[in-house]
Amino acid sequence: MAADDTIYSECTAAEPLLAPRPTLGSRLKRRWYRADRLGRAAIVLLALMMCAALAVRILVEVTGPRDRWPGPPATIPPGADDSPESDEERRLAVRAAMKHAWSGYRKYAFGKDELRPVSNGSNNKWGGWGVTLIDALDTLHIMELHAEFKEAVTHVTGVDFSKATDGYTTPFFEMVIRCLGGLLSAYEMSLDPRLLEKAQQVGDVLMPAFGTSTGIPYPRVDVNAGRAVPSDRVCIAEAGTVQLEYWKLSELTGDPSYHAAAQRVVDILDRAHKPYPGLYPIWVDIASGNLTSGQITFGGMGDSWYEYMLKQYIYSRRSTAQYRRMYEESIDAMTARMVQRSIYDENMYYVGDLDATATKFSPRFQHLTCFVPGMLALGSRVLDRPADLELAKQLTYTCFQMYNLTSTGLSPEYVQFRDSKDRGISPDEAEADFTTVALGAASSKEERDGFYLGPNRSYILRPETIESLMVLYRVTGDLKYKEWGWQIFRAIEAWTKTPAAYSAYRDVTSTAGRSQLTDSMESFFLAETLKYLYLLFSPADYYSLDEYVFNTEAHPFRIMRSPRP
Ligand SMILES: *[C@@H]1O[C@H](CO)[C@@H](O)[C@H](O)[C@H]1NC(C)=O
Ligand SMILES: *[C@@H]1O[C@H](CO)[C@@H](O)[C@H](O)[C@H]1NC(C)=O
Ligand SMILES: *[C@@H]1O[C@H](CO)[C@@H](O)[C@H](O)[C@H]1NC(C)=O
Ligand SMILES: *[C@@H]1O[C@H](CO)[C@@H](O)[C@H](O)[C@H]1NC(C)=O
Repeated sequence: MAADDTIYSECTAAEPLLAPRPTLGSRLKRRWYRADRLGRAAIVLLALMMCAALAVRILVEVTGPRDRWPGPPATIPPGADDSPESDEERRLAVRAAMKHAWSGYRKYAFGKDELRPVSNGSNNKWGGWGVTLIDALDTLHIMELHAEFKEAVTHVTGVDFSKATDGYTTPFFEMVIRCLGGLLSAYEMSLDPRLLEKAQQVGDVLMPAFGTSTGIPYPRVDVNAGRAVPSDRVCIAEAGTVQLEYWKLSELTGDPSYHAAAQRVVDILDRAHKPYPGLYPIWVDIASGNLTSGQITFGGMGDSWYEYMLKQYIYSRRSTAQYRRMYEESIDAMTARMVQRSIYDENMYYVGDLDATATKFSPRFQHLTCFVPGMLALGSRVLDRPADLELAKQLTYTCFQMYNLTSTGLSPEYVQFRDSKDRGISPDEAEADFTTVALGAASSKEERDGFYLGPNRSYILRPETIESLMVLYRVTGDLKYKEWGWQIFRAIEAWTKTPAAYSAYRDVTSTAGRSQLTDSMESFFLAETLKYLYLLFSPADYYSLDEYVFNTEAHPFRIMRSPRP
């Protein structure tokens, strides 16, 4: 694509300029030998002038304003650019992005956990299983990158999952959703039995996590020693987002013990005392199964616990009344207690966090929480809850504005709303730490912003908003969700692309470009962000939501053929 060349000629300009091209040198040499004295003086003068111009150029490069990185304007007026219009062209552009990210990973980090996309280094921060490769398998398959898929599968079949980096303890939940989930869905797509074998090996080495007095899992496993790492507590998303994967493993292997271990956790948490019916504080005391602390969130540490209530109901062909009851109770409570509307922009709704011990509401909306509209839309269809779809549309609008209103068109980790006391909400003390940024053009600061940005303004290539756009498009058929997704994709291309892949970006309000790249690419960029973008521009029956349920890492699982194994 033309856009890439523009970025990287700018980004790498300093190096070729320092070493003049050989063609220019040889041309000057030829002239020198042919010229008379006056001619030679002219050549010297010309050379001096070129050196001076070069020096000025370098000086400007080094000291000048760093905002010349070409990126798109925050919004692209319709018809004002030559970007592809058809779904097929957009789909291919996303596929090209995947090819780009994959080839950088393949070249510099093949088999390692992550590529460092700026320095072209790599890391093994997840214990060395090759997490990016495993997480990317089904995306390669979905995008019909078959040679890449085949090569990656060959590699995976040689990985020994009973070992990890010396001294490393493996995070149970992360490796279940990324590795077990990734291998299971790659198996279902390819029916390559070696992938099921490897999935089972991952499932088995992580099973010691469940070896506690209550069965509530420990958060980490020492796979080298074959045992879990004792701990007092685990957060609810970690304990409650492994069920779909272990259930699928039971279905595919015929061994019910995986599902039984995972289901026991839900039964305990279902019975545990909660401050409000349906709302679960994030910390679980492993020895008692009690929910401690009062923090309740649909963002980090809580999020996918709620998501899996619905998704297990769908996966079981609607045969698990327990999950339906739990999901409906949670969504009713969330809607009643945690959803608010911006006092400055009546179109903006958000889901804040709760502190039940202090009965305090925090008007903070996390990017991670932007999976909620997709969940609500899916639930509205499966459970016939039309009001949930309305809320889903409202929340999707806010999630999109978190991108649309920054100068890069990328979203920060979270935004903070201001809320009024007269609606029974106490303003968050944390607000003192928040500064307003000029986001729009209206006259009054608050009217203009609608929300504030917190101290962490990074965009780490997260998928949640795109995931919701994909589901909202498929449920409503409204084309605006595709346009929003395309706008976000263009911002990702413009600001996060590196010569080797894509990198997290430090401050989404800064248009400084390259200096903002943090040299990190999480595996979920390949597993989720690019996959959901690709599916957004694919026909709705490609990996249809009627046939598949996506795990929380975007690995599609076939819905069970007959209810309950
Ligand atoms: C767990 O909760 C129950 C009832 O809410 C309480 O009686 C019990 O003491 C709690 N156990 C611990 C270890 O906190
Ligand atoms: C995106 O933001 C701009 C202001 O920067 C606004 O004019 C535009 O309407 C927004 N787009 C959408 C779809 O809301
Ligand atoms: C911002 O959040 C990201 C993602 O959670 C994290 O990796 C990063 O370290 C945070 N940055 C700061 C400055 O706190
Ligand atoms: C990283 O790799 C890309 C693609 O192979 C290359 O263009 C770029 O110059 C490399 N960057 C560094 C810092 O080596």
